[in-house]
Amino acid sequence: NTKILTVNEYDPEPEVIREAAQVLKDGGLVAFPTETVYGLGGDGLNPEASGKIYAAKGRPSDNPLILHIAEREELIPLTAEIPQMAERLMDTFWPGPMTLIFRKSEQVPYETTGGLDTVAVRMPSHPVARRLIQEAGLPIAAPSANLSGRPSPTSASHVEEDLNGRIDMILDGGDVQIGLESTIIDVTGDAPVILRPGFISREDVEALMGSCTLDPAIVGKPDLNLRPKAPGMKYRHYAPQADMLIVEGDPDFVTRTICAKAAKDLAEGKKVAVLCTEESRAAYGDLSCHTVGTRGNEETIAHNLFRCLREFDEEKVDMIYSESFREGTLGGAIMNRLLKAAGYHVLQQIGGAHGSLS
Ligand code: TXA
Ligand code: MG
Repeated sequence: NTKILTVNEYDPEPEVIREAAQVLKDGGLVAFPTETVYGLGGDGLNPEASGKIYAAKGRPSDNPLILHIAEREELIPLTAEIPQMAERLMDTFWPGPMTLIFRKSEQVPYETTGGLDTVAVRMPSHPVARRLIQEAGLPIAAPSANLSGRPSPTSASHVEEDLNGRIDMILDGGDVQIGLESTIIDVTGDAPVILRPGFISREDVEALMGSCTLDPAIVGKPDLNLRPKAPGMKYRHYAPQADMLIVEGDPDFVTRTICAKAAKDLAEGKKVAVLCTEESRAAYGDLSCHTVGTRGNEETIAHNLFRCLREFDEEKVDMIYSESFREGTLGGAIMNRLLKAAGYHVLQQIGGAHGSLS
């Protein structure tokens, strides 16, 4: 059975960390908080432990894992080469929500990298994650601690919903701060390429490095001719059980369109829910709404997004209408997740001010 231990997120209790680290050293699995989402940790150099991670998540074994380290020197044995551009990125963004893709060393088993010759490495800033890595003395392989296809967990109760009985231990360190997975940057080429958008934005990387592109395969709708360089990006992630439509346009168009469509669904006996913001909540009247955050602070939207998607599943709604969140530096990362959840189902206002309700 899964043991659940509460841990102080700022100053983790040494005895709790010791107990969790022992599970990892013995080849077991421990879910733990990071600043992005909860991770499902196992010994990253032990193929058997990676096997257990894939089995617990129900994850396809061609989807590689991220290795988590606590100190820069721990990177050296994992990589064949550390490019100059990686040093600059690490100086600026580590510890923090950034994962880098390197050419792997022989030490890293192909079971961890999904058969690739590259390895993903991240140095988290969360005190529980850092203390756990230090105490275990291992690079910890940790995908997000959800069942494959479910939204990433932003609290220990989300992990429990998905993985209770399937893993050895959960460290409950409360809600995570950011709520979106790390930015993945490939540093094996001439210039940095973002393979998965996250809290660290393309603009942040460009300001530091002079240039930064997005993997073309993750821009817009999935294209069968383009294969994302991060294998995980090709799966239909974060898919709620309900149908979902994102409505885009000026605020008035969005609320009117959603209200009209929802009224029709309700008349047909469907259960409907709306993903809205504090600014728009009142415009939806009696409709069942989930307020994801405020447009005044897009970090609140990132923080609550996965929780809201899980709530829709719990309430067993048939149809979800969502507002769009393209503005701001986090817009790209938020929309990447929201578009996947909606299966790229978007209704756009045609030609500005007064669009139709088509
Ligand atoms: O914030 C995060 O990154 C969280 C926390 C727990 O650290 N972890 C996380 O892991 O989101 P996961 O496994 O859910 O997502 C890892 C992503 C997948 O899309 C995978 O395909 C990609 O990283 N990835 C891993 N190794 C790679 C590699 N060598 N080359 C390209 N993409 C890689
Ligand atoms: Mg994941």
